[in-house]
Amino acid sequence: APRRKCLLGNWKMNASLDGNAALLAAVGQSLAGLDQRVQWGVAVPAPYLAQVRGLLDGTPGWLGAQDCSAHEAGAYTGETSAAMLREFGCRFTLVGHSERRSLHGETSATVAIKARQALALGLTPVVCVGETLAEREAGQTFDVVKKQLSVVIHEVGHCVGELIVAYEPVWAIGTGLAATAQQAQEVHAALRAQLAVATPRAAQMLLLYGGSMKPSNAAELLSQPDIDGGLIGGASLVAPDFAALCQAA
Ligand code: G3H
Repeated sequence: APRRKCLLGNWKMNASLDGNAALLAAVGQSLAGLDQRVQWGVAVPAPYLAQVRGLLDGTPGWLGAQDCSAHEAGAYTGETSAAMLREFGCRFTLVGHSERRSLHGETSATVAIKARQALALGLTPVVCVGETLAEREAGQTFDVVKKQLSVVIHEVGHCVGELIVAYEPVWAIGTGLAATAQQAQEVHAALRAQLAVATPRAAQMLLLYGGSMKPSNAAELLSQPDIDGGLIGGASLVAPDFAALCQAA
């Protein structure tokens, strides 16, 4: 079976009760007749999970979180557990977004444990990997992303096939400068080959591209054989843009 396309919005720390309601009303309306082959969802700040769960009710949109704790429960002030996300209806959670890695010191080892915690609660971890500009210029792109992914592959064992992987070159995030379709495709192909060593499900797994994806570049990126969708930051906050991205798939 052909893989479904999947477009996930990542609102980052941009949300408000009124804004969320307006955004999702507009998105829901635009996407009402969307082809069943396309799955969409939004990763929202934790305080809004309950609200957004209600707003998504009756739509096919997936509710997701932007992070989850590496710990099950206990004295971890400020953290949100996978069980809590599950209780509020999350279908997925991002893990290892580059902003978590660079601004919050998350290592690949921590990201891998978070992925395992999410899986244990029935959440799909969307594992984010990507190289910096310096790493790309040094010719280390493939080494860096494969290393990041391999730590997760080893940690989750036989559950590898349940992951979603998002390739997000750090230099493309929020810069307006997306990777070219060819640059993204070659990394996606390498990641899928790496996954194929670990799971017979690699050909069915969803590999998303993220980094300045917008209506003007989406069709070309999404037409690549190993690009199954997008992880959308800025454009996911603009209803017509997010809808256009989903429709481009
Ligand atoms: O998670 C989303 C990515 O960081 C991409 O963000 O679309 O604003 O570049 P962006």
